[in-house]
Amino acid sequence: MSVADLPKVELHLHHEGAAPPAFVRQLAFEKKMDISKVFNAEGGYAFQDFVHFLSVYEAATSVLKTPEDYARLTRAVLEESAENGVVYTESFISPDFCGGGDVAAWKDYLAAIKEAADQAETDFGIILRGVVTCVRHFGPEKAKASALCAAETAGDWVVGFGMGGDEGQGHQGDFAYAFDMAREAKLQLTTHAGEFGGPSSVREAIDDLNVSRIGHGVRAIEDRALIEEIVARQITLEVCPGSNVVLGLYPNFESHPIKRLRDVGVKVTVSTDDPPFFATTMRREYEMLHQAFGWDADDFAELNTTAAHAAFCDDETRQRVL
Ligand code: ADE
Ligand code: ZN
Repeated sequence: MSVADLPKVELHLHHEGAAPPAFVRQLAFEKKMDISKVFNAEGGYAFQDFVHFLSVYEAATSVLKTPEDYARLTRAVLEESAENGVVYTESFISPDFCGGGDVAAWKDYLAAIKEAADQAETDFGIILRGVVTCVRHFGPEKAKASALCAAETAGDWVVGFGMGGDEGQGHQGDFAYAFDMAREAKLQLTTHAGEFGGPSSVREAIDDLNVSRIGHGVRAIEDRALIEEIVARQITLEVCPGSNVVLGLYPNFESHPIKRLRDVGVKVTVSTDDPPFFATTMRREYEMLHQAFGWDADDFAELNTTAAHAAFCDDETRQRVL
C-alpha cells in the first residue's frame, strides 16, 4: 500500500478555493458570465503571485451566487476529497461570499451547505465541519459582521472562526474584536499567519488573537524563541506545503520547513489550502512528503492523530476519525 492510500484528516481547506475549474466554468456558462481571464490555456486557474491569486480566487468565486450554488460546490468538493482518502475535513466558509455578511442570508447558505455535506457524508463517508472565516483585506468591520454570523450559528457544525486573505494588510490585532466575539460564542480559533507575513505575524496571532491553531505558520521557523513558544503552548500548525511551493515561499518540498518544525516538536498537520489552484490533492501532498523526507505510514499516522486532536469538532466526531 502506498502512503497516499492512508485515511487523511484535513484541517485547512478553503471552500471556494477547492472548486474544480470545470465546475466554475459550468456555473459561469449557466449564468452567462465571462470569467475567461481566471483560466490559463490548459483550463486551470491562472495567477502570477499571491496578491494576484487572491484576485483570481475572488473572480472565480463570483460565479457562486445562491445557496444552491454552494450546495453543488460542497458536493463536488467533498466527492473529490473523499476520492483522495480524506475522512474528515474542516473548510473555511466566508459570510462575505455567502450573503455579504447578512445573518439571515448567511443562515440560508449555511443550511444549503450543511444539507449537501450530510448527503455527502452518507454517499462518500466524509465528514465536513465549518470554520467561518473573515477576509483580512476586507477589513475589521466586515470581519465583525462575519464573526456575528459565526456566533449566531455556532454549534456542532460551525465549530470555528478564522481569518484568511492578504496578510500584508493591517495587523492581526485589528481583528481582535471579531475574534473575541467568536471566542465568546465558544468557537475555536485559527488565523492565517506566517505565510507571507513573516514571524512577527505569527507572534501577533498568538499575542493579540490567542488562537489555538495557525494557518501555515511556517515562517515561525525564522525565530527560535517563537518556535519554543509554539511548542510550549501546543499550538497546531495547518501546514500546506504544496501551496507554499506554488506561491514561491520555498522552491520545492525538500526545502520546506515542515520537517524541521516537526523535528523540534511543533504540532504539524498537512492540508492542501486550495487544491486545484495549486495543482495538488491530499494524495499528492502525502506522496511529495514521502519522496522529500522518506516519511512512512507511521509518520503519516502520527500527523493524522495530531490533526484529529486539533480538529475543532466535538469529541464524539473526533472518535470517529481517530
Ligand atoms: N485564501 C485562500 N487561500 C489563501 C491563502 N493561501 N492565504 C491566505 N488567504 C487565502
Ligand atoms: Zn489558506
